[in-house]
Order: sequence, then structure tokens, then C-alpha cells
Amino acid sequence: MRRPFVAGNWKMHGSRADNAQLIEALLLGLPNQPVAEIVVCPPFVYLWELSRLLKSSSIALGAQSVCAESLGAFTGEVCASMLKDVGCHYLIVGHSERRAIYKEDDSLVARKFFIGQSHGLIPILCVGETLDEREKDQTNAVVARQLNAVLDLAGIAALSNAIIAYEPVWAIGTGKNASPAQAQDVHAHIRSVVAARDAKIAAAVRIVYGGSVKAANAREIFSMPDVDGGLIGGASLKADEFLKICAAAQSH
Ligand code: 13P
Repeated sequence: MRRPFVAGNWKMHGSRADNAQLIEALLLGLPNQPVAEIVVCPPFVYLWELSRLLKSSSIALGAQSVCAESLGAFTGEVCASMLKDVGCHYLIVGHSERRAIYKEDDSLVARKFFIGQSHGLIPILCVGETLDEREKDQTNAVVARQLNAVLDLAGIAALSNAIIAYEPVWAIGTGKNASPAQAQDVHAHIRSVVAARDAKIAAAVRIVYGGSVKAANAREIFSMPDVDGGLIGGASLKADEFLKICAAAQSH
């Protein structure tokens, strides 16, 4: 039985005041010991304050990115030991916005995954195809390539302590979500790619879906056998929406 996992990726949104309000509402609305694991990933500058707000709560903290180097002259970057130092448990790597806008390729994503995990962070590895790739029937090949780049560097055992997020690029922030059946197909494929290296790890690894998940569609998507929760963008900024999504994951 895989424990459901729901993370909110706030992307570049929020303010100290908005964050405090959102967290207060989430803490009020969540059960003391939620069945699902719940994570929020704010921008870097808010991590420390949120780690104090979330101390001893049922919500864990994650970062949205990391530097692939461990320390030194890398102006503007934030390294894994700093994320750990301010109370992060999770780390998103390979988000499609990082891949597309900041030109992060598979090998850089793999290095970020590796360095984050070596510093005790649990990576949330995002994979997913563009609309063009889907239309050319390349979805399975793309997600396998993105995943294998990480497994080649970090080794299959690394997935015993990581989450995979399938985020079709065409569904992110567009209001168009993959249908439950489309999500299930790709999730099953991802699990088979992992199983080709280690069946036990494949059965245990959590694969979550991201891309226009809302309270209205979460239950249906999460009910698919290989979907273990969600990575939520826009809807994670609204307490009532995010709480309903968390509830949908718990009842799965
Ligand atoms: P939306 O839920 O806003 O589509 O974003 C998904 C996402 O990119 C989460 O990382």
C-alpha cells in the first residue's frame, strides 16, 4: 500500500502575509494525522519562515529547485545543504518550467536529483511530454528518457526515497488535464520502466500526477491504480481547493 502524496508547488507566487494566511487555513482544515503526506513548496525566500510556521505540523516543506553544485562561487544560486539547513524535506527537480525556460537538460536534472538526495532531501522528479511530443506519439519514450537519465546517474536504489511526478507539459496551467485514463497509461508505463530495473522498487515508488488538478477532478484522477497523488500548481494557492484535493487523496 503506497501512502498518498500531495504537494503544492506555489511557483513564483505568495507574500509573507498571503503565505501566513494560507498556512493557517490549511492547518485548520487538515486532520491532525492526515492519511496522505502533504507538502508545500514556496519560493526560496519564504522557506525559513514557513519552516518555523510548519514546525511539528503535518505539512512538510519542499523547495522548487536547487543548484547542482554543492557550495561556492555561484551567484544567485541556492545549494542543497542550505535547503536542508532551513528545514526542507523535499526538492522538486526537472519541472517543465525549469527544463523549458531555464534550459535544464536531462543531465543537469539528474545532477540536481543526485546532489539533493545526497544532502538528505527527497527529490520529486518531474517528467512529462510536450503537446508536440504527444501528438507524435513520443510520450512513453520521452518520460522513459527523462527517468533513465536520473537512474543512470543515481542508481535504481535512489527511487526508494524519491517521488516521481508525471506532468504533461500541455496540461500545466492550461486548465486541460490529462484524462484519468491518459494519466493511468503513462503512470503504468513509468512504473514499468522502473520495474525493468527493480520490480520491488517499482511497486513501492509513488508516482503522482500534475497538470490542472483541481478539487473538481482530483478524485477521479487519484482513483487510478498507478496514480498515488498529485503535484498541484494553481489550485494549491487556494486553501479550500487544496484541502479538497488533499481529502480526495486520503480517501483513495
Ligand atoms: P497547475 O496545477 O497550475 O496546472 O500546475 C501544475 C504544476 O506545474 C505543478 O508543478
